[in-house]
Amino acid sequence: MNKKNRTKIWGLGMILLLALNTSCYYNKTPLPPEPTGDISYAVDIQPIFNDNCVACHQAGTGVPLDLEESVSYNNLINGSFLNVDEPELSVLYVKINTGGSMSPYATDNNRSVILKWIEQGALNN
Ligand code: HEC
Repeated sequence: MNKKNRTKIWGLGMILLLALNTSCYYNKTPLPPEPTGDISYAVDIQPIFNDNCVACHQAGTGVPLDLEESVSYNNLINGSFLNVDEPELSVLYVKINTGGSMSPYATDNNRSVILKWIEQGALNN
Protein backbone atom coordinates (compact mmCIF):
# COMPACT_ATOMS: atom_id res chain seq x y z
CA MET A 1 0.00 0.00 0.00
CA ASN A 2 1.45 3.38 -0.95
CA LYS A 3 1.62 6.37 1.32
CA LYS A 4 -1.25 8.24 -0.38
CA ASN A 5 -3.68 5.35 0.16
CA ARG A 6 -2.63 4.93 3.76
CA THR A 7 -3.38 8.61 4.39
CA LYS A 8 -6.79 8.19 2.77
CA ILE A 9 -7.65 5.18 4.95
CA TRP A 10 -6.44 6.99 8.04
CA GLY A 11 -8.62 9.98 7.14
CA LEU A 12 -11.68 7.81 6.60
CA GLY A 13 -11.04 6.10 9.92
CA MET A 14 -10.95 9.41 11.74
CA ILE A 15 -14.21 10.52 10.12
CA LEU A 16 -15.83 7.25 11.19
CA LEU A 17 -14.54 7.65 14.74
CA LEU A 18 -15.86 11.20 14.88
CA ALA A 19 -19.26 10.10 13.61
CA LEU A 20 -19.43 7.30 16.20
CA ASN A 21 -18.34 9.63 18.93
CA THR A 22 -20.97 12.22 18.02
CA SER A 23 -23.75 9.64 18.02
CA CYS A 24 -22.65 8.47 21.48
CA TYR A 25 -22.74 12.04 22.68
CA TYR A 26 -26.36 12.36 21.61
CA ASN A 27 -27.21 9.04 23.23
CA LYS A 28 -26.02 10.34 26.59
CA THR A 29 -28.80 12.91 26.85
CA PRO A 30 -32.01 11.10 25.97
CA LEU A 31 -35.23 12.95 26.56
CA PRO A 32 -37.75 11.01 28.61
CA PRO A 33 -40.24 9.53 26.19
CA GLU A 34 -43.70 11.03 26.37
CA PRO A 35 -45.95 8.35 27.77
CA THR A 36 -48.30 7.06 25.12
CA GLY A 37 -51.31 4.78 25.31
CA ASP A 38 -53.06 3.61 28.43
CA ILE A 39 -51.14 3.77 31.69
CA SER A 40 -51.68 0.82 34.01
CA TYR A 41 -51.52 1.21 37.78
CA ALA A 42 -50.07 -2.28 38.25
CA VAL A 43 -47.60 -2.16 35.36
CA ASP A 44 -46.53 1.51 35.31
CA ILE A 45 -47.32 3.22 38.61
CA GLN A 46 -46.76 0.73 41.44
CA PRO A 47 -43.26 -0.14 40.12
CA ILE A 48 -42.33 3.58 40.38
CA PHE A 49 -43.39 3.50 44.04
CA ASN A 50 -41.56 0.21 44.63
CA ASP A 51 -38.31 1.54 43.16
CA ASN A 52 -38.33 5.10 44.53
CA CYS A 53 -40.76 5.54 47.41
CA VAL A 54 -41.56 2.40 49.39
CA ALA A 55 -38.21 2.40 51.22
CA CYS A 56 -39.66 5.28 53.25
CA HIS A 57 -43.38 5.00 52.54
CA GLN A 58 -44.13 1.74 54.31
CA ALA A 59 -45.65 0.64 57.57
CA GLY A 60 -43.39 1.07 60.58
CA THR A 61 -41.23 3.93 59.26
CA GLY A 62 -43.39 6.71 60.66
CA VAL A 63 -43.60 8.27 57.17
CA PRO A 64 -47.19 9.13 56.17
CA LEU A 65 -48.86 7.39 53.20
CA ASP A 66 -47.99 3.70 52.91
CA LEU A 67 -47.25 3.07 49.21
CA GLU A 68 -46.76 -0.68 49.44
CA GLU A 69 -48.41 -2.71 46.71
CA SER A 70 -51.30 -4.14 48.75
CA VAL A 71 -52.46 -0.79 50.16
CA SER A 72 -51.12 2.03 47.95
CA TYR A 73 -54.15 2.53 45.71
CA ASN A 74 -56.67 2.64 48.57
CA ASN A 75 -54.45 4.98 50.57
CA LEU A 76 -54.12 7.37 47.61
CA ILE A 77 -57.90 7.38 47.08
CA ASN A 78 -58.93 7.55 50.74
CA GLY A 79 -56.36 10.22 51.60
CA SER A 80 -57.51 12.45 48.70
CA PHE A 81 -54.08 12.49 47.07
CA LEU A 82 -55.61 12.38 43.58
CA ASN A 83 -57.67 15.01 41.76
CA VAL A 84 -58.98 13.68 38.45
CA ASP A 85 -60.74 16.98 37.68
CA GLU A 86 -57.52 18.97 37.98
CA PRO A 87 -54.75 16.36 37.72
CA GLU A 88 -51.91 18.86 38.12
CA LEU A 89 -53.31 19.87 41.51
CA SER A 90 -53.24 16.30 42.84
CA VAL A 91 -51.23 16.24 46.08
CA LEU A 92 -49.36 13.17 44.80
CA TYR A 93 -48.27 15.09 41.69
CA VAL A 94 -47.55 18.40 43.45
CA LYS A 95 -45.31 16.61 45.97
CA ILE A 96 -43.15 14.90 43.31
CA ASN A 97 -43.18 17.81 40.86
CA THR A 98 -40.35 20.35 40.69
CA GLY A 99 -40.37 22.32 43.95
CA GLY A 100 -42.26 19.62 45.85
CA SER A 101 -40.58 17.99 48.84
CA MET A 102 -40.60 14.57 47.09
CA SER A 103 -39.20 15.81 43.75
CA PRO A 104 -35.65 14.47 44.39
CA TYR A 105 -37.04 10.93 44.43
CA ALA A 106 -38.87 11.09 41.07
CA THR A 107 -37.51 11.41 37.54
CA ASP A 108 -39.09 13.54 34.82
CA ASN A 109 -40.37 10.36 33.29
CA ASN A 110 -41.92 9.25 36.63
CA ARG A 111 -43.67 12.62 36.86
CA SER A 112 -45.13 12.50 33.36
CA VAL A 113 -46.28 8.88 33.70
CA ILE A 114 -48.00 9.60 37.03
CA LEU A 115 -49.65 12.76 35.68
CA LYS A 116 -50.85 10.91 32.59
CA TRP A 117 -52.30 8.16 34.78
CA ILE A 118 -54.28 10.71 36.82
CA GLU A 119 -55.44 12.42 33.58
CA GLN A 120 -56.73 9.05 32.42
CA GLY A 121 -58.92 8.80 35.54
CA ALA A 122 -56.49 7.34 38.12
CA LEU A 123 -57.84 3.83 37.57
CA ASN A 124 -56.85 0.75 39.56
CA ASN A 125 -56.06 -1.02 36.30
C1 HEC B 1 -36.19 9.29 52.02
C2 HEC B 1 -37.56 8.98 52.40
C3 HEC B 1 -38.64 9.25 51.38
C4 HEC B 1 -38.70 8.88 50.05
C5 HEC B 1 -37.69 8.06 49.26
C6 HEC B 1 -39.97 9.35 49.55
N1 HEC B 1 -40.65 10.02 50.52
FE1 HEC B 1 -42.50 10.88 50.36
N2 HEC B 1 -42.39 11.56 52.27
C7 HEC B 1 -41.32 11.33 53.13
C8 HEC B 1 -41.57 12.07 54.38
C9 HEC B 1 -40.64 12.08 55.59
C10 HEC B 1 -42.81 12.75 54.22
C11 HEC B 1 -43.50 13.70 55.21
C12 HEC B 1 -42.91 15.08 55.06
C13 HEC B 1 -43.30 15.78 53.79
O1 HEC B 1 -44.50 15.80 53.43
O2 HEC B 1 -42.40 16.29 53.10
C14 HEC B 1 -43.29 12.40 52.89
C15 HEC B 1 -44.48 12.85 52.36
C16 HEC B 1 -45.01 12.46 51.13
C17 HEC B 1 -46.33 12.79 50.67
C18 HEC B 1 -47.37 13.58 51.44
C19 HEC B 1 -47.99 12.65 52.46
C20 HEC B 1 -49.01 13.33 53.33
O3 HEC B 1 -49.68 12.61 54.11
O4 HEC B 1 -49.17 14.55 53.25
C21 HEC B 1 -46.47 12.23 49.42
C22 HEC B 1 -47.69 12.30 48.51
C23 HEC B 1 -45.23 11.56 49.13
N3 HEC B 1 -44.35 11.70 50.18
C24 HEC B 1 -44.98 10.88 47.97
C25 HEC B 1 -43.76 10.25 47.66
C26 HEC B 1 -43.50 9.59 46.43
C27 HEC B 1 -44.50 9.41 45.28
C28 HEC B 1 -42.20 9.12 46.49
C29 HEC B 1 -41.44 8.40 45.43
C30 HEC B 1 -41.38 9.00 44.12
C31 HEC B 1 -41.68 9.49 47.80
N4 HEC B 1 -42.65 10.19 48.48
C32 HEC B 1 -40.41 9.18 48.24
C33 HEC B 1 -40.22 10.55 52.90
C34 HEC B 1 -39.88 9.99 51.66
